[in-house]
Amino acid sequence: MGTGIAQVAAMKGLDVILCDSHSGALERSVINTERYFKRSVAKEKLTQEDAEAAARRISASSDLQALEPADFVIEAINEDESSKKAAFLLLDQIVKPEAILASNTSSISITRIAAVTKRNSQVVGMHFMNPVPVMPLVEIIRGIATSDEVFQTAKALSEHLGKTVCLSLDRPGFIVNRILMPMVNEAFYTLMEGVGTAEDIDKGMKLGTNHPMGPLQLADFIGLDTCLSIMRVLHGGTGDPKYRPCPLLVQYVDAGWLGKKVYKGVYTYAKPLN
Ligand SMILES: NC(=O)c1ccc[n+]([C@@H]2O[C@H](COP(=O)([O-])OP(=O)(O)OC[C@H]3O[C@@H](n4cnc5c(N)ncnc54)[C@H](O)[C@@H]3O)[C@@H](O)[C@H]2O)c1
Repeated sequence: MGTGIAQVAAMKGLDVILCDSHSGALERSVINTERYFKRSVAKEKLTQEDAEAAARRISASSDLQALEPADFVIEAINEDESSKKAAFLLLDQIVKPEAILASNTSSISITRIAAVTKRNSQVVGMHFMNPVPVMPLVEIIRGIATSDEVFQTAKALSEHLGKTVCLSLDRPGFIVNRILMPMVNEAFYTLMEGVGTAEDIDKGMKLGTNHPMGPLQLADFIGLDTCLSIMRVLHGGTGDPKYRPCPLLVQYVDAGWLGKKVYKGVYTYAKPLN
């Protein structure tokens, strides 16, 4: 998700410092960005000149300290509350006092993430959709302490990036995943109980309800680890057993079958040649 956000921001004229603690992920991100800009030129969505200018606006580092000059940070690390809190604790010390810290979390409380910082009024949720260059929505989440000014800045930034905003209260799963993820989880129950094959479940939902892709294919695309984390946030945050994660989803994640990003999830994907 970080790669997609960086691509869109750079195309809209913003300087971007892309940061990932895993150098392999950073390399993949740079390669994917080069490919994306090339494809955009080939499809005549971007001129060669604009693609080169956008590429020049992105710098990459595996050291969080590189974010020191940033005015606005959008965190998009794994969907894990303790990792996000640890990252925000560090970011709070690294970036200048007036900088805004946003989280691309799909489900985790912005209020709790903000509470580890000394700038909780300057922390906001900006939930981009996947793939970021294609999907038109940013769901903005105000923590209990998020100021009006910071909300307005996050909204203006989203709109500058060409996105439409919806505003959600800071509740588990917010709006989009409160509704979407139980459907994905139910698709895993349907698969586990043998009601249909993966292909039939996806075909049924795609053609029968006019979704662009079936829920199991969507889960592979999102990342099964992310789907499971969101279900755990919904389950833990509401205490409602209707949100319990499907054991088959748990087992796939235990097996490391995390979806398209590792070429194996519900389905198997061919690895690119280079
Ligand atoms: N995948 C989706 O469809 C989707 C959609 C909307 C929002 N999100 C949210 O975006 C976030 C990222 O999801 P993703 O699918 O891109 O995950 P991902 O696993 O593909 O990428 C996460 C990246 O964060 C890096 N990372 C982990 N800890 C770090 C740290 N402390 N410092 C720096 N880098 C660190 C990892 O190396 C990895 O490259 C999550 O909060 C997720 O809920 C995901």
